[in-house]
Amino acid sequence: MTHPDYDHLQQAAKDHLWMHFTRHSSFDHADVPVIVRGEGPYIWDARGKRYLDGLAGLFVSQLGHGRTELAEAAAKQARELAFMPLWSYAHPRAIELAERVAGYAPGELNRVFFTSGGGEAVETAWKLAKNYFKLTGKPMKHKVISRSIAYHGTTQGALSITGLPGLKAPFEPLVPSTFRVPSTNFYRAPQHGDDLEAFGRWAADQIAVVIEDEGPETVAAVFLEPVQNAGGCFPPPPGYFQRVREICDEYDVLLVSDEVICAFGRLGHMFGAERYGYQPDIITCAKGITSGYAPLGAMIATERLMEPFLDGLNSFAHGFTFAGHPVSCAVAMANLDIFENEKVLENVRDNEGAFRSTLERLTDLPIVGDVRGDGYFYGIELVKDKETKATFDDDESERLLRGFLSKALYDEGLYCRADDRGDPVVQLAPPLICTQEHFDEIEQILRVVLDKAGTLL
Ligand SMILES: Cc1ncc(COP(=O)(O)O)c(C=O)c1O
Repeated sequence: MTHPDYDHLQQAAKDHLWMHFTRHSSFDHADVPVIVRGEGPYIWDARGKRYLDGLAGLFVSQLGHGRTELAEAAAKQARELAFMPLWSYAHPRAIELAERVAGYAPGELNRVFFTSGGGEAVETAWKLAKNYFKLTGKPMKHKVISRSIAYHGTTQGALSITGLPGLKAPFEPLVPSTFRVPSTNFYRAPQHGDDLEAFGRWAADQIAVVIEDEGPETVAAVFLEPVQNAGGCFPPPPGYFQRVREICDEYDVLLVSDEVICAFGRLGHMFGAERYGYQPDIITCAKGITSGYAPLGAMIATERLMEPFLDGLNSFAHGFTFAGHPVSCAVAMANLDIFENEKVLENVRDNEGAFRSTLERLTDLPIVGDVRGDGYFYGIELVKDKETKATFDDDESERLLRGFLSKALYDEGLYCRADDRGDPVVQLAPPLICTQEHFDEIEQILRVVLDKAGTLL
């Protein structure tokens, strides 16, 4: 049934709502998609049409929609204590959640600094890295290394770390002192294209090359996602992170695992670092920690990094009003209870093989060049020519992704994203409660739409 206020919602959206990363002109002659409710892995628009949430909102809705336990946890906390900042005061939910998250995090990652979201966590990590080295006698260490095409957020520091020149250009000059190394895109490996491990070692070694070029005494941290999202899901080759760890130890550079997407079950573990067996100095996370029922992020640091701040007059002069909000922390606790009670991580681990093989059926389509990812996190790279791996030019990308794909997938009942920040990819990250019937639905819709897309070129 169409929402009773449909026409007003449309007009007010067009007149007043400034949407994020949105070309507003595309709604000059089209309706704004307005989503009004959700249940499990499905969402409904204001006309009453149902969609499979193939992106968990934005890599967020791990448990799916409509979980009343999470809504009730929020309401209970708002009644008990709606707000208290973490500026020299604490509240029980932040304390309990910090203890719990520290318990899940690998190794000595025992100190949890809450934020309101992912970008703030990335900002916090960079500021901590700089501040830590100033306090420990290496004041020149301030530079950051990250990977090309990687997305780390939109605030000026996080955007500086981001490796997407097009996204940064309108806001230059940004924060100086960031440097890029190659991603682990094996499909388009510039070296060792026939040997995954050798390629991974080469890609990791590029970090050492940049550290040497810049001077180890100036480099503070390297920011890497366990599986890089932008560009279309690049998992790490075997041994990649182990080599990165060695390099970081050799040059005293902090390894920051940006797990804003990859933590809290996306890869079948609480943290991606656990899945790939490496020990970061800092983890940044957000999104899935609450399954989206309230906003929250966190930076998790090792004991070593907090140590200088435990001394005398020292403090980390940094914070955000809403970070570690009591309602968000209460929701996160309830979310993690459900993770444990309903064995959500096990569900991902048990079903990820089926998800992969269902998506791999699509490789029979001429437009599908590569299907890659891990856990419930996949990218499907689209190509003009499968044999040569030739990709689309800007014009074709524009026609294919913006002009056709995103809308066609949505019209067929699949909410997900066609992205061309690197090579053109369809991104998939469904709620972690999904099973074979949902994988089949995703595959069937993609098959219809990608088949048609192939004929348009
Ligand atoms: C890896 C990574 N880091 C940081 C961010 C920024 O998070 P937020 O949008 O919550 O600021 C994102 C957002 O998608 C992300 O994927």
